[in-house]
Amino acid sequence: MGSTTVENIAWSSQLETGIAIIDRDHKVLVDLLNQVADVIGDSEERAILGSVLNSLSEYTHYHFSREEKLQEVAGYPGLEAHRRRHVVLAAQVDDIRSRYRDEPESVQGDEVRAFLRTWLVEHILKEDMNYRAICTAHPEAVAAAEAIRFGEEPLDSDGGAAVRKTASVNWSTLKVLVVEDNRNFQLIISTILRSLGVRSITAADSGAAGLGSLHGGGTFDLVLSDWRMEEMDGLQFVREARAAGVQTPIIMMTGYSDDVVREQAREAGVNAFLEKPITARGFLETAGEVLTAAAAPAV
Ligand SMILES: [Fe+2]
Ligand SMILES: [Fe+2]
Repeated sequence: MGSTTVENIAWSSQLETGIAIIDRDHKVLVDLLNQVADVIGDSEERAILGSVLNSLSEYTHYHFSREEKLQEVAGYPGLEAHRRRHVVLAAQVDDIRSRYRDEPESVQGDEVRAFLRTWLVEHILKEDMNYRAICTAHPEAVAAAEAIRFGEEPLDSDGGAAVRKTASVNWSTLKVLVVEDNRNFQLIISTILRSLGVRSITAADSGAAGLGSLHGGGTFDLVLSDWRMEEMDGLQFVREARAAGVQTPIIMMTGYSDDVVREQAREAGVNAFLEKPITARGFLETAGEVLTAAAAPAV
């Protein structure tokens, strides 16, 4: 990707629909969009930008289902036209995502960002504002929209595998430690976690800082660790944490898919792996499995 000069989008009251759940979704989308520019030129650009675009695409589909449910229950007469607009926008985002995955050089930073900005901001300011009045007058529509959770919405047209229900996980009370030396990757992970409703996120810039957080009296329900880090790598971090008696489930984020290496990591005490570039759905599924297993009584 080339350099970019497009400025970040600042969230403003102008973008607010006044429907809390919709505004929350829009903020996540704007955050992800702003990250597209921040990661250009990063040494791990491919993994990070790939993760941002994956998440942007997934979250767009999710948000659109939520919004369409809201309009349907409220009896919004513009639903069909709005739905058609969503189909076009989602296809455009998906196209950028797959082009970047298959041929990253073909994707230009400025072009992508200017385009994403246009669809997102203009769609919110024009089309989304049109359903505001009727939907705010129908609290049952807002409740139906709130009930749609990420990963449980109807599947998009490219038909990924269904995500196992993770209803048993209470994301809002979860305490998560993220051990990652790349700030941009920390940011994308935090955005994904926040989009799921996680409120307590602690970031550590190195394995040593991660051990410090674990030993500093903090209790965590889940640890996400990068593998490749300067000085202390993820494997060493896990070994030392386990040797010190830490039992918190640990998910290792890695570009390696080598079975031997993975086996080594499992022996060190890693519970599961998340391959970079990550997807928000992949994270949801992996974290759901790990947390459900951790909550199950030992046999
Ligand atoms: Fe929207
Ligand atoms: Fe919309």
